[in-house]
Amino acid sequence: MTILAAAAPEPGTDDVTGHYYYPPDDMRAARGEGVYLYDEDGRRYLDCSAGTFNLSLGYSHPEIVATIRERAGELVHVTSKFQTAPGNELVRRLVGIAPEGLNRVHLKSSSGSDANEAAIKMAQHHTGRTDVVSLFRGHLGQTISMIGASGAAFRRAPFSFASTGVVHVPDPYCGRCFYRQSRDTCGLLCVERINDFIDFASSGKVAAVIVEPISGNGGNIVAPEGYLARLRQLCDERDIVLIFDEIQTGFGRTGRMFAAEHFGVTPDVLTFGKGLGGSGLPIAGLLTRERMTGLAGHHINSTFGGNVLASAVAAKTIEIIGRPGFLENVRETGAYIMERLRDLAGRVRCITDVRGVGLMIGIEVVDRAGRPSAELTGHLADVAQRRGLLMRTSLYGFGNVLKVRPALILQRAEAEEMCDRIEELFVTVDREQV
Ligand SMILES: Cc1ncc(COP(=O)(O)O)c(C=O)c1O
Repeated sequence: MTILAAAAPEPGTDDVTGHYYYPPDDMRAARGEGVYLYDEDGRRYLDCSAGTFNLSLGYSHPEIVATIRERAGELVHVTSKFQTAPGNELVRRLVGIAPEGLNRVHLKSSSGSDANEAAIKMAQHHTGRTDVVSLFRGHLGQTISMIGASGAAFRRAPFSFASTGVVHVPDPYCGRCFYRQSRDTCGLLCVERINDFIDFASSGKVAAVIVEPISGNGGNIVAPEGYLARLRQLCDERDIVLIFDEIQTGFGRTGRMFAAEHFGVTPDVLTFGKGLGGSGLPIAGLLTRERMTGLAGHHINSTFGGNVLASAVAAKTIEIIGRPGFLENVRETGAYIMERLRDLAGRVRCITDVRGVGLMIGIEVVDRAGRPSAELTGHLADVAQRRGLLMRTSLYGFGNVLKVRPALILQRAEAEEMCDRIEELFVTVDREQV
Protein backbone atom coordinates (compact mmCIF):
# COMPACT_ATOMS: atom_id res chain seq x y z
CA MET A 1 0.00 0.00 0.00
CA THR A 2 1.32 3.42 -0.90
CA ILE A 3 0.88 6.09 1.68
CA LEU A 4 0.59 9.52 0.15
CA ALA A 5 2.10 12.04 2.49
CA ALA A 6 0.56 15.50 2.46
CA ALA A 7 2.96 17.95 0.87
CA ALA A 8 5.01 19.84 3.41
CA PRO A 9 4.00 23.48 3.78
CA GLU A 10 5.80 25.87 1.43
CA PRO A 11 8.73 27.56 3.15
CA GLY A 12 7.58 30.89 4.53
CA THR A 13 3.84 30.12 4.37
CA ASP A 14 1.91 30.36 7.56
CA ASP A 15 -1.10 28.51 6.15
CA VAL A 16 -0.60 25.17 7.87
CA THR A 17 -4.26 24.60 8.73
CA GLY A 18 -4.42 21.31 6.83
CA HIS A 19 -1.52 19.95 8.87
CA TYR A 20 -3.26 20.22 12.20
CA TYR A 21 -4.55 16.84 13.37
CA TYR A 22 -7.76 18.58 14.42
CA PRO A 23 -9.49 21.46 12.65
CA PRO A 24 -8.48 24.73 14.32
CA ASP A 25 -10.76 27.77 14.31
CA ASP A 26 -10.03 30.31 11.57
CA MET A 27 -9.43 33.01 14.16
CA ARG A 28 -5.75 33.86 14.53
CA ALA A 29 -5.14 35.20 17.99
CA ALA A 30 -2.29 37.67 18.19
CA ARG A 31 -2.21 39.26 21.63
CA GLY A 32 -4.25 39.75 24.74
CA GLU A 33 -4.66 42.36 27.43
CA GLY A 34 -6.86 41.97 30.49
CA VAL A 35 -10.24 40.60 29.44
CA TYR A 36 -9.65 41.37 25.75
CA LEU A 37 -8.10 39.23 23.05
CA TYR A 38 -6.99 40.69 19.68
CA ASP A 39 -6.67 38.85 16.37
CA GLU A 40 -4.01 39.44 13.72
CA ASP A 41 -6.15 42.11 12.10
CA GLY A 42 -6.42 44.00 15.38
CA ARG A 43 -10.06 43.02 15.96
CA ARG A 44 -10.95 43.03 19.65
CA TYR A 45 -12.83 40.21 21.41
CA LEU A 46 -14.26 40.42 24.90
CA ASP A 47 -13.47 37.06 26.46
CA CYS A 48 -16.29 35.81 28.70
CA SER A 49 -14.49 32.56 29.46
CA ALA A 50 -11.00 33.63 30.45
CA GLY A 51 -9.26 31.54 27.80
CA THR A 52 -10.04 27.99 28.87
CA PHE A 53 -11.44 29.22 32.21
CA ASN A 54 -7.83 29.51 33.33
CA LEU A 55 -6.79 33.15 32.89
CA SER A 56 -7.71 34.18 36.40
CA LEU A 57 -5.72 37.41 36.01
CA GLY A 58 -6.60 37.91 32.37
CA TYR A 59 -4.33 38.07 29.35
CA SER A 60 -0.75 39.21 29.99
CA HIS A 61 -1.25 40.62 33.48
CA PRO A 62 1.64 43.10 33.88
CA GLU A 63 2.85 41.63 37.19
CA ILE A 64 2.79 38.12 35.76
CA VAL A 65 4.71 39.24 32.68
CA ALA A 66 7.25 40.95 34.96
CA THR A 67 7.58 37.79 37.07
CA ILE A 68 8.19 35.71 33.94
CA ARG A 69 10.83 38.16 32.68
CA GLU A 70 12.57 38.31 36.01
CA ARG A 71 12.57 34.57 36.70
CA ALA A 72 13.24 33.28 33.21
CA GLY A 73 16.78 34.66 33.31
CA GLU A 74 17.53 32.78 36.53
CA LEU A 75 16.01 29.30 36.28
CA VAL A 76 13.16 28.03 34.14
CA HIS A 77 13.28 24.37 35.10
CA VAL A 78 15.12 22.01 37.37
CA THR A 79 14.25 18.47 38.36
CA SER A 80 11.49 18.59 40.95
CA LYS A 81 13.77 16.56 43.21
CA PHE A 82 15.37 19.84 44.29
CA GLN A 83 13.86 22.70 46.26
CA THR A 84 13.82 26.17 44.73
CA ALA A 85 12.88 29.56 46.15
CA PRO A 86 9.80 29.91 43.85
CA GLY A 87 8.72 26.33 44.65
CA ASN A 88 9.00 26.91 48.38
CA GLU A 89 7.23 30.24 48.12
CA LEU A 90 4.39 28.53 46.28
CA VAL A 91 4.09 25.76 48.89
CA ARG A 92 4.06 28.37 51.66
CA ARG A 93 1.33 30.35 49.94
CA LEU A 94 -0.77 27.31 49.05
CA VAL A 95 -0.78 26.03 52.62
CA GLY A 96 -1.57 29.57 53.76
CA ILE A 97 -4.79 29.72 51.71
CA ALA A 98 -5.83 26.05 51.86
CA PRO A 99 -8.97 24.93 53.66
CA GLU A 100 -8.04 23.98 57.21
CA GLY A 101 -6.30 20.62 57.50
CA LEU A 102 -5.02 20.47 53.92
CA ASN A 103 -1.39 21.14 54.69
CA ARG A 104 0.49 18.91 52.27
CA VAL A 105 1.19 20.07 48.72
CA HIS A 106 1.82 17.75 45.78
CA LEU A 107 3.16 19.57 42.71
CA LYS A 108 4.31 16.75 40.48
CA SER A 109 1.54 17.25 37.95
CA SER A 110 1.37 19.52 34.96
CA SER A 111 -2.32 19.30 34.07
CA GLY A 112 -5.64 18.99 35.83
CA SER A 113 -6.19 15.50 34.40
CA ASP A 114 -2.86 14.41 35.82
CA ALA A 115 -3.68 15.93 39.25
CA ASN A 116 -7.01 14.08 39.35
CA GLU A 117 -5.29 10.82 38.47
CA ALA A 118 -2.81 11.45 41.28
CA ALA A 119 -5.70 12.10 43.68
CA ILE A 120 -7.36 8.81 42.78
CA LYS A 121 -4.08 6.92 43.05
CA MET A 122 -3.60 8.59 46.44
CA ALA A 123 -7.06 7.44 47.60
CA GLN A 124 -6.50 3.91 46.32
CA HIS A 125 -3.12 3.75 47.97
CA HIS A 126 -4.49 5.09 51.24
CA THR A 127 -7.55 2.82 51.47
CA GLY A 128 -6.30 -0.30 49.69
CA ARG A 129 -9.53 -0.15 47.69
CA THR A 130 -10.09 0.49 44.00
CA ASP A 131 -13.43 1.98 42.97
CA VAL A 132 -14.32 5.59 42.42
CA VAL A 133 -17.72 7.28 42.65
CA SER A 134 -18.17 10.25 40.35
CA LEU A 135 -21.03 12.31 38.95
CA PHE A 136 -23.07 11.83 35.76
CA ARG A 137 -22.03 15.23 34.44
CA GLY A 138 -18.54 15.40 35.93
CA HIS A 139 -15.62 16.41 33.75
CA LEU A 140 -12.36 15.29 35.29
CA GLY A 141 -9.98 15.45 32.37
CA GLN A 142 -8.78 14.09 29.06
CA THR A 143 -6.52 11.17 29.88
CA ILE A 144 -8.05 7.80 29.24
CA SER A 145 -8.74 7.03 32.87
CA MET A 146 -10.15 10.50 33.54
CA ILE A 147 -12.48 10.13 30.56
CA GLY A 148 -13.54 6.87 32.19
CA ALA A 149 -14.12 8.59 35.50
CA SER A 150 -15.94 11.56 33.91
CA GLY A 151 -19.63 11.49 33.08
CA ALA A 152 -21.09 11.54 29.55
CA ALA A 153 -21.30 8.29 27.59
CA PHE A 154 -20.29 9.90 24.30
CA ARG A 155 -16.84 10.69 25.65
CA ARG A 156 -16.26 7.11 26.79
CA ALA A 157 -17.81 5.36 23.78
CA PRO A 158 -14.64 4.91 21.68
CA PHE A 159 -12.52 3.85 24.66
CA SER A 160 -14.07 0.67 25.96
CA PHE A 161 -11.42 -0.09 28.56
CA ALA A 162 -11.56 3.29 30.26
CA SER A 163 -14.21 3.00 32.92
CA THR A 164 -13.37 0.00 35.07
CA GLY A 165 -14.17 0.53 38.72
CA VAL A 166 -16.10 3.78 38.28
CA VAL A 167 -19.65 4.16 39.54
CA HIS A 168 -21.42 7.18 38.09
CA VAL A 169 -24.19 8.66 40.22
CA PRO A 170 -26.75 11.45 39.58
CA ASP A 171 -25.63 15.02 40.14
CA PRO A 172 -27.22 17.40 42.63
CA TYR A 173 -29.03 19.09 39.74
CA CYS A 174 -32.20 20.45 41.31
CA GLY A 175 -33.39 22.04 38.05
CA ARG A 176 -33.74 18.59 36.50
CA CYS A 177 -33.76 16.30 39.53
CA PHE A 178 -32.97 12.68 38.66
CA TYR A 179 -35.29 11.54 41.45
CA ARG A 180 -38.10 13.87 40.37
CA GLN A 181 -38.10 15.59 43.74
CA SER A 182 -38.12 19.18 44.89
CA ARG A 183 -35.59 20.48 47.37
CA ASP A 184 -38.06 20.70 50.25
CA THR A 185 -39.14 17.06 49.88
CA CYS A 186 -36.04 15.31 48.56
CA GLY A 187 -34.14 14.58 51.79
CA LEU A 188 -31.02 14.88 49.61
CA LEU A 189 -31.67 11.61 47.81
CA CYS A 190 -28.79 12.49 45.49
CA VAL A 191 -26.48 11.77 48.43
CA GLU A 192 -28.52 9.10 50.24
CA ARG A 193 -28.82 6.89 47.17
CA ILE A 194 -25.04 6.84 46.77
CA ASN A 195 -25.14 4.24 49.54
CA ASP A 196 -27.19 1.99 47.23
CA PHE A 197 -24.83 2.56 44.33
CA ILE A 198 -21.90 1.61 46.54
CA ASP A 199 -23.65 -1.48 47.93
CA PHE A 200 -25.11 -2.76 44.66
CA ALA A 201 -23.31 -1.17 41.69
CA SER A 202 -19.67 -1.08 42.81
CA SER A 203 -17.28 -3.91 43.62
CA GLY A 204 -17.88 -2.98 47.26
CA LYS A 205 -14.34 -1.60 47.43
CA VAL A 206 -14.82 2.12 47.02
CA ALA A 207 -11.72 4.24 47.60
CA ALA A 208 -12.96 7.70 46.68
CA VAL A 209 -15.81 9.99 45.82
CA ILE A 210 -14.63 12.69 43.42
CA VAL A 211 -16.78 15.73 42.67
CA GLU A 212 -16.43 19.25 41.35
CA PRO A 213 -18.05 21.40 44.07
CA ILE A 214 -19.72 23.26 41.19
CA SER A 215 -19.92 21.18 38.06
CA GLY A 216 -18.14 23.25 35.41
CA ASN A 217 -18.36 21.71 31.96
CA GLY A 218 -21.36 19.60 33.01
CA GLY A 219 -23.56 22.69 33.19
CA ASN A 220 -22.51 25.02 36.00
CA ILE A 221 -24.55 22.96 38.43
CA VAL A 222 -24.46 24.46 41.90
CA ALA A 223 -25.11 21.86 44.59
CA PRO A 224 -28.03 22.67 46.90
CA GLU A 225 -27.46 23.72 50.48
CA GLY A 226 -26.32 20.78 52.59
CA TYR A 227 -25.32 18.49 49.70
CA LEU A 228 -21.57 18.65 50.15
CA ALA A 229 -21.82 18.52 53.94
CA ARG A 230 -23.92 15.35 53.72
CA LEU A 231 -21.51 13.91 51.16
CA ARG A 232 -18.67 14.58 53.60
CA GLN A 233 -20.62 12.72 56.27
CA LEU A 234 -21.27 9.75 53.98
CA CYS A 235 -17.57 9.52 53.15
CA ASP A 236 -16.69 9.64 56.85
CA GLU A 237 -19.26 6.97 57.70
CA ARG A 238 -17.89 4.64 55.02
CA ASP A 239 -14.22 5.59 55.38
CA ILE A 240 -14.07 6.82 51.78
CA VAL A 241 -11.70 9.56 50.63
CA LEU A 242 -13.53 12.71 49.51
CA ILE A 243 -11.81 14.48 46.62
CA PHE A 244 -12.83 17.94 45.43
CA ASP A 245 -11.80 18.74 41.89
CA GLU A 246 -11.29 22.52 42.21
CA ILE A 247 -9.57 22.82 38.86
CA GLN A 248 -12.21 25.29 37.69
CA THR A 249 -13.51 26.53 41.02
CA GLY A 250 -10.18 27.19 42.76
CA PHE A 251 -8.30 30.46 43.24
CA GLY A 252 -11.11 32.93 43.55
CA ARG A 253 -13.49 31.82 40.81
CA THR A 254 -16.41 31.63 43.28
CA GLY A 255 -15.47 34.79 45.13
CA ARG A 256 -13.72 32.68 47.80
CA MET A 257 -10.24 31.28 47.45
CA PHE A 258 -11.69 27.77 47.10
CA ALA A 259 -15.27 26.57 46.62
CA ALA A 260 -14.70 24.29 49.65
CA GLU A 261 -14.68 27.49 51.70
CA HIS A 262 -17.81 28.75 50.01
CA PHE A 263 -19.69 25.57 50.97
CA GLY A 264 -17.97 25.19 54.37
CA VAL A 265 -16.84 21.62 53.64
CA THR A 266 -13.26 20.36 53.58
CA PRO A 267 -12.33 17.37 51.41
CA ASP A 268 -9.44 14.97 52.10
CA VAL A 269 -7.80 15.87 48.81
CA LEU A 270 -8.29 18.98 46.68
CA THR A 271 -6.99 19.14 43.11
CA PHE A 272 -6.13 22.43 41.42
CA GLY A 273 -4.82 23.71 38.09
CA LYS A 274 -6.14 26.25 35.57
CA GLY A 275 -6.44 29.61 37.40
CA LEU A 276 -3.25 29.14 39.41
CA GLY A 277 -1.26 29.99 36.28
CA GLY A 278 -2.54 33.59 36.44
CA SER A 279 -2.19 34.55 32.80
CA GLY A 280 -1.90 31.02 31.45
CA LEU A 281 1.18 29.28 32.82
CA PRO A 282 0.68 25.50 33.04
CA ILE A 283 0.66 24.33 36.64
CA ALA A 284 -1.46 21.86 38.63
CA GLY A 285 -1.31 19.88 41.82
CA LEU A 286 -3.00 18.66 44.98
CA LEU A 287 -3.56 19.79 48.52
CA THR A 288 -4.09 16.93 50.95
CA ARG A 289 -4.45 16.06 54.57
CA GLU A 290 -1.28 14.92 56.29
CA ARG A 291 -2.50 11.34 56.59
CA MET A 292 -2.86 10.97 52.81
CA THR A 293 0.86 11.11 52.06
CA GLY A 294 1.46 7.45 51.13
CA LEU A 295 1.63 8.21 47.41
CA ALA A 296 5.03 9.89 47.58
CA GLY A 297 6.91 7.08 45.85
CA HIS A 298 4.28 6.47 43.18
CA HIS A 299 3.52 9.75 41.42
CA ILE A 300 6.95 11.22 41.17
CA ASN A 301 8.48 12.10 37.88
CA SER A 302 6.11 14.17 35.81
CA THR A 303 8.68 16.11 33.80
CA PHE A 304 7.05 19.52 33.96
CA GLY A 305 5.52 19.10 37.43
CA GLY A 306 6.43 21.93 39.79
CA ASN A 307 8.12 23.85 36.95
CA VAL A 308 10.13 26.70 38.49
CA LEU A 309 8.88 29.49 36.22
CA ALA A 310 5.26 28.34 36.58
CA SER A 311 5.72 28.11 40.37
CA ALA A 312 6.97 31.69 40.52
CA VAL A 313 3.95 32.84 38.52
CA ALA A 314 1.61 30.73 40.67
CA ALA A 315 2.98 32.25 43.89
CA LYS A 316 2.49 35.74 42.42
CA THR A 317 -1.03 34.82 41.30
CA ILE A 318 -1.99 33.75 44.84
CA GLU A 319 -0.49 36.96 46.20
CA ILE A 320 -2.55 39.08 43.79
CA ILE A 321 -5.81 37.18 44.38
CA GLY A 322 -5.25 37.49 48.13
CA ARG A 323 -4.95 41.30 48.06
CA PRO A 324 -7.62 43.29 49.88
CA GLY A 325 -10.66 43.88 47.72
CA PHE A 326 -9.79 41.34 45.00
CA LEU A 327 -12.28 38.63 45.98
CA GLU A 328 -14.82 41.23 46.97
CA ASN A 329 -14.69 42.50 43.37
CA VAL A 330 -15.31 38.95 42.12
CA ARG A 331 -18.37 38.65 44.36
CA GLU A 332 -19.70 42.08 43.40
CA THR A 333 -19.21 41.82 39.62
CA GLY A 334 -20.54 38.24 39.78
CA ALA A 335 -23.69 39.38 41.58
CA TYR A 336 -24.15 42.21 39.09
CA ILE A 337 -23.83 39.84 36.09
CA MET A 338 -26.24 37.34 37.67
CA GLU A 339 -28.79 40.05 38.21
CA ARG A 340 -28.51 41.32 34.63
CA LEU A 341 -28.69 37.83 33.13
CA ARG A 342 -31.65 36.82 35.29
CA ASP A 343 -33.44 39.93 34.13
CA LEU A 344 -32.61 38.98 30.52
CA ALA A 345 -33.91 35.43 31.14
CA GLY A 346 -37.30 36.94 31.89
CA ARG A 347 -37.35 38.66 28.48
CA VAL A 348 -36.17 35.97 26.03
CA ARG A 349 -37.61 32.53 25.47
CA CYS A 350 -34.39 30.59 24.96
CA ILE A 351 -33.00 30.98 28.50
CA THR A 352 -34.48 28.68 31.11
CA ASP A 353 -32.06 29.25 33.97
CA VAL A 354 -29.14 31.40 35.03
CA ARG A 355 -27.14 29.98 37.91
CA GLY A 356 -23.79 30.36 39.53
CA VAL A 357 -21.58 31.66 42.30
CA GLY A 358 -19.08 34.51 42.01
CA LEU A 359 -17.76 34.65 38.45
CA MET A 360 -18.73 31.05 37.69
CA ILE A 361 -22.02 31.54 35.90
CA GLY A 362 -23.97 29.41 33.42
CA ILE A 363 -26.83 30.32 31.09
CA GLU A 364 -29.05 27.32 30.33
CA VAL A 365 -30.44 27.38 26.78
CA VAL A 366 -33.60 25.68 25.51
CA ASP A 367 -35.39 25.53 22.18
CA ARG A 368 -38.91 26.75 21.51
CA ALA A 369 -40.33 23.55 22.96
CA GLY A 370 -38.37 24.10 26.18
CA ARG A 371 -35.95 21.23 25.45
CA PRO A 372 -32.22 21.56 26.18
CA SER A 373 -30.61 22.52 22.89
CA ALA A 374 -26.90 21.95 22.28
CA GLU A 375 -27.42 23.11 18.70
CA LEU A 376 -28.85 26.49 19.67
CA THR A 377 -26.17 26.88 22.34
CA GLY A 378 -23.46 26.25 19.74
CA HIS A 379 -25.16 28.70 17.38
CA LEU A 380 -25.21 31.38 20.10
CA ALA A 381 -21.48 30.85 20.72
CA ASP A 382 -20.74 31.14 16.97
CA VAL A 383 -22.78 34.32 16.57
CA ALA A 384 -21.14 35.70 19.72
CA GLN A 385 -17.69 35.16 18.26
CA ARG A 386 -18.66 36.88 15.01
CA ARG A 387 -19.78 39.80 17.17
CA GLY A 388 -16.48 39.91 19.06
CA LEU A 389 -17.62 38.09 22.20
CA LEU A 390 -15.96 34.81 23.23
CA MET A 391 -18.29 32.38 24.99
CA ARG A 392 -17.58 28.72 25.66
CA THR A 393 -19.92 25.76 25.62
CA SER A 394 -19.32 22.12 26.41
CA LEU A 395 -20.98 18.94 25.23
CA TYR A 396 -21.04 17.50 28.73
CA GLY A 397 -24.46 17.28 30.33
CA PHE A 398 -27.04 18.38 27.77
CA GLY A 399 -24.48 20.63 26.10
CA ASN A 400 -26.87 23.55 26.55
CA VAL A 401 -25.07 25.84 28.97
CA LEU A 402 -23.13 28.91 27.88
CA LYS A 403 -20.43 29.71 30.36
CA VAL A 404 -19.76 33.17 31.72
CA ARG A 405 -16.44 32.79 33.52
CA PRO A 406 -14.39 35.87 32.71
CA ALA A 407 -11.04 36.78 34.18
CA LEU A 408 -11.38 37.65 37.87
CA ILE A 409 -9.87 41.08 37.29
CA LEU A 410 -13.07 42.08 35.47
CA GLN A 411 -14.04 45.62 36.38
CA ARG A 412 -17.58 46.92 36.74
CA ALA A 413 -17.49 48.86 33.42
CA GLU A 414 -16.28 45.72 31.61
CA ALA A 415 -19.01 43.67 33.31
CA GLU A 416 -21.57 46.20 32.06
CA GLU A 417 -20.19 45.98 28.52
CA MET A 418 -20.26 42.17 28.73
CA CYS A 419 -23.88 42.10 29.90
CA ASP A 420 -24.98 44.64 27.25
CA ARG A 421 -23.40 42.53 24.53
CA ILE A 422 -24.73 39.21 25.85
CA GLU A 423 -28.14 40.82 25.98
CA GLU A 424 -27.89 42.00 22.34
CA LEU A 425 -26.77 38.53 21.34
CA PHE A 426 -29.67 36.75 23.00
CA VAL A 427 -32.31 39.23 21.90
CA THR A 428 -31.11 38.94 18.26
CA VAL A 429 -30.88 35.14 18.23
CA ASP A 430 -34.12 34.72 20.18
CA ARG A 431 -35.94 36.81 17.60
CA GLU A 432 -34.61 34.57 14.77
CA GLN A 433 -36.03 31.41 16.37
CA VAL A 434 -39.39 30.32 15.01
C1 LIG B 1 -13.20 20.46 36.51
C2 LIG B 1 -12.06 20.03 35.63
N1 LIG B 1 -11.28 19.03 36.04
C3 LIG B 1 -10.22 18.63 35.29
C4 LIG B 1 -9.94 19.22 34.08
C5 LIG B 1 -8.77 18.76 33.29
O1 LIG B 1 -7.76 19.70 33.33
P1 LIG B 1 -6.64 19.74 32.20
O2 LIG B 1 -7.29 20.14 30.93
O3 LIG B 1 -5.64 20.75 32.70
O4 LIG B 1 -6.05 18.36 32.12
C6 LIG B 1 -10.74 20.26 33.63
C7 LIG B 1 -10.48 20.89 32.32
O5 LIG B 1 -11.32 21.49 31.70
C8 LIG B 1 -11.84 20.67 34.42
O6 LIG B 1 -12.65 21.66 34.02
